[in-house]
Amino acid sequence: MKAISIGMLGLGTVGSGVVTIIENHQDKLMHQVGCPIKIKKILVNNINKPRAVEIPQELLTTNANEILEDPEIDVVIEVMGGVDHTKGYLLKALQQKKHVVTANKDLMAVYGTELHTVAAENGCDLFYEASVAGGIPILRSLVDGLASDRILKMMGIVNGTTNFILTKMTKQGAAYAEVLKEAQELGFAEADPTSDVGGLDAARKMTILATLGFSMKVDLDDVKVQGITQITEDDLKYAKQLGYTMKLLGIASRDEDDKVEVSVQPTLLPENHPLASVNDEYNAVYVFGDAVGETMFYGPGAGSLPTATSVVSDLVGVIKNMRLGVNGRSAVTPQYPKKLKSADEIFSKYFLRLHVYDEVGTFADITGIFSKHKVSFEKILQMPLKRKETAEIVLVTHHASLKDYEEILNELKDLPAVKEIKCSYRVERGERG
Ligand code: NDP
Ligand code: HSE
Repeated sequence: MKAISIGMLGLGTVGSGVVTIIENHQDKLMHQVGCPIKIKKILVNNINKPRAVEIPQELLTTNANEILEDPEIDVVIEVMGGVDHTKGYLLKALQQKKHVVTANKDLMAVYGTELHTVAAENGCDLFYEASVAGGIPILRSLVDGLASDRILKMMGIVNGTTNFILTKMTKQGAAYAEVLKEAQELGFAEADPTSDVGGLDAARKMTILATLGFSMKVDLDDVKVQGITQITEDDLKYAKQLGYTMKLLGIASRDEDDKVEVSVQPTLLPENHPLASVNDEYNAVYVFGDAVGETMFYGPGAGSLPTATSVVSDLVGVIKNMRLGVNGRSAVTPQYPKKLKSADEIFSKYFLRLHVYDEVGTFADITGIFSKHKVSFEKILQMPLKRKETAEIVLVTHHASLKDYEEILNELKDLPAVKEIKCSYRVERGERG
């Protein structure tokens, strides 16, 4: 039977894994799709660079058109990264009636809708399982596995680098900068890790998850983002003392009126929450469905072979569709118009750490502000600080609206008794927060 020819854009970490899996699993793949899979050409920056896989030199090119304009190439696998010029390549591939598989979350989070439209117009598949949580088949699980359910909430540890950093800081007391360097050396972090530690990488992934899970076009700008750079050893110490674990968590929730909230922020989870035990560079996505209840998808969120597993599984999906003649029909058109929750519709508990002047009336002034907004405390600790006349207050609130909580923070800032607001984090429980 005639082989399916593929062209690859990129032969780095993920690309090398793709080549390895296609070579090592050829029998299994052949059984799945009924024909051999042949890599015809691979675009790289530098043909002479040493490669992690053995590849005949004549397969490499620096001219994208050798792939995009080759009528024999049926599928383009994009594992080169980048946004604007990569988008141009993928649009051209689709216009040339080539199916596209990509691992590129930066691209799909921003231009997913445009690429889907062009794919559908040209009868092509556009699959991107590897773009969220690397080796975990979470997108298929949302779109197919949970197709019959109404997803109410998703909480994801979707960035391996920050999970690695927070795990080492919490469990070994390691210093932030040192662990970030280790994550870079191990290859989890992006070339420029700003988007990892600043939360943007997780926000891109949450944009994709929310769009598919809620069947609503959520945009990257709709995601409230806070990274991990400001987290201190003391924050982690007090969180632990109160029975919590800190994670950089993507949270996407929808209410009965199909209003949604999507955010990425350092969040405290009770130590017995299933996400609290997801450590090191591992990822997990907790999904709460109206009918199914709690589910959790766990696995490696990055790395050569895990990510390539998702890429090659997408390739299998494309070829199966080719056999059935149904390519270009699986694009998911959003069912709901976008409706975002306002700050008075987002409810959560909060962890707050304050340094205050240890004087008569201080505590009453602070509690007075919370009482005015009808927000009560679940837990509270007060310790004297080394510097005389000051004390540290650590508290966890009961549920409060974001609007009330932000007003409380503003009022605390202006209170003479408060020396400094040291930190404030969201606290999550589970299906309803
Ligand atoms: P790498 O930097 O390891 O590899 C990129 C590859 O693309 C290299 O082979 C490079 O060529 C080639 N390339 C890059 N830009 C160009 C260009 N303008 N023209 C020609 N060739 C180019 O990246 P990764 O493999 O780590 O990541 C690839 C994609 O997968 C990204 O979108 C990333 O976000 C995504 N991803 C990565 C994961 C991971 O664990 N690494 C996990 C999930 C998704 P050369 O080798 O010659 O320099
Ligand atoms: N830098 C990303 C992470 C790679 O740390 O999760 C996988 O998308």
